[in-house]
Amino acid sequence: MATTRQVKLGAFIHGVGGHIAGWRHPLAQTDASIDFGFYTSQAQKAEGGKFDFVFIADGLFINEKSIPHFLNRFEPLTILSALAAVTSRVGLVGTVSTSYSEPFTVSRQLSSLDHISGGRAGWNVVTSPLEGSALNYSKSIEEHPDHAKRYRIATEYLEVAKGLWDSWEDDAFVRDKETGVFFDPNKMHTLNHKGEFFSVQGPLNIGRSRQGQPVIFQAGASEAGKSFAATWADAIFTGHLTLSDAKQFYEDVKNRAAAAGRNPDEVIIMPGIAPIIGRTEEEAEQKYQELANLVSIDQALAYLGRYYDHHDFSVYELDAPFPDLGDVGRNSFQSTTDRIKRDAQKDNLTLRQVALQETTPRPLFMGTPETVANLVQEWFVERGADGFIVSSSIPYALNDFIDLVVPILQERGVFRTEYEADTLRGNLGLSIPANRYAAKTNQALV
Ligand SMILES: Cc1cc2nc3c(=O)[nH]c(=O)nc-3n(C[C@H](O)[C@H](O)[C@H](O)COP(=O)(O)O)c2cc1C
Repeated sequence: MATTRQVKLGAFIHGVGGHIAGWRHPLAQTDASIDFGFYTSQAQKAEGGKFDFVFIADGLFINEKSIPHFLNRFEPLTILSALAAVTSRVGLVGTVSTSYSEPFTVSRQLSSLDHISGGRAGWNVVTSPLEGSALNYSKSIEEHPDHAKRYRIATEYLEVAKGLWDSWEDDAFVRDKETGVFFDPNKMHTLNHKGEFFSVQGPLNIGRSRQGQPVIFQAGASEAGKSFAATWADAIFTGHLTLSDAKQFYEDVKNRAAAAGRNPDEVIIMPGIAPIIGRTEEEAEQKYQELANLVSIDQALAYLGRYYDHHDFSVYELDAPFPDLGDVGRNSFQSTTDRIKRDAQKDNLTLRQVALQETTPRPLFMGTPETVANLVQEWFVERGADGFIVSSSIPYALNDFIDLVVPILQERGVFRTEYEADTLRGNLGLSIPANRYAAKTNQALV
């Protein structure tokens, strides 16, 4: 085990990517979202780079406006189970919604992934913000639970899942052919949960894994989300764009975790980054421009217009200063529309520049490998992050990060050169949660 604090890294594998037009890039594999070969090579690449885990995101509702990757992609636990067979050390983390699933099924699926992978499973708990999801789960839009209720459901869901994962004590399965004893009935436990949303008797029909329980990930940003994450999550994804915002969040969530009686060091904060790396600053800029230019100006104007109540930006001169819009947009995405107007004025931007920048925001983590490594280290040392979840806005940006930035971090001693453990918990430096019943028995014996 490393004794000094080390950067944790996750690889966000998402086929053709999270950018609206990334699939048109000359290097993009257009069917990557549905190609097992692509996922295998990216997971093995991440393992070669000693990443803590790979991450597969998910959502439950699409329409014709969804980005290309969302239209045609793998279900997370299915692809992760396949990846378990072609990797041996890297953790396998996937999104599953607590608003549209049953805890018995999901606890069982995650436990199975944990066993199949030898203790490398992780679960990104999401509550499904899109109300259209209801229409795919035998419900009406009106029945889509509101934000507060979604977190109440998630809380009870986690209580059930963690309870089910303790159905069997670690040494419950005796499997003694001589005596004919397969299991010790004193070490099998029935949950008997009856709550506001779920009624689950148990026991779960699979035992504990080598890491005890799958690792819990979460990405709460709201008050309810942050409290939930601080209570339940082993690791937290964030979307902060500046170090000062990241530091504020970091301190807030660590304090909440301590207030909930947890060790704040066992709550790992991981901002999401999509770095663009070049051998020179100019090359990185050129890569960024190449991506931005994949978006047609009509697409960019329509994308921008959505923030402003579908305002028609095509009537303005493209290369003139950003138009004076008066109050347009104040009733829609207010903070975003205000920010766009402010930035356009401050930087004297044209409409074309604003539309293209909003569609392809310039990443902070951009430049030479040294520039990006410096930022990673700065955010880590300044306690804006314990690690990062790295995604690719341009194809193979993850490979650039692994080939060019990781060696610098290793050289500086802030990232591992070898895995410390062969479970996800072990590599993240998280302790194995004691089985609640065994813990009681052990206490009684002392
Ligand atoms: C790196 C990262 C990954 C995320 N992955 C997913 C995902 O796979 N599915 C999803 O529905 N939401 C995902 N989210 C969104 C969060 O679950 C959450 O809805 C969002 O951060 C808003 O927080 P709130 O729920 O507290 O309002 C992700 C967020 C981040 C920062």
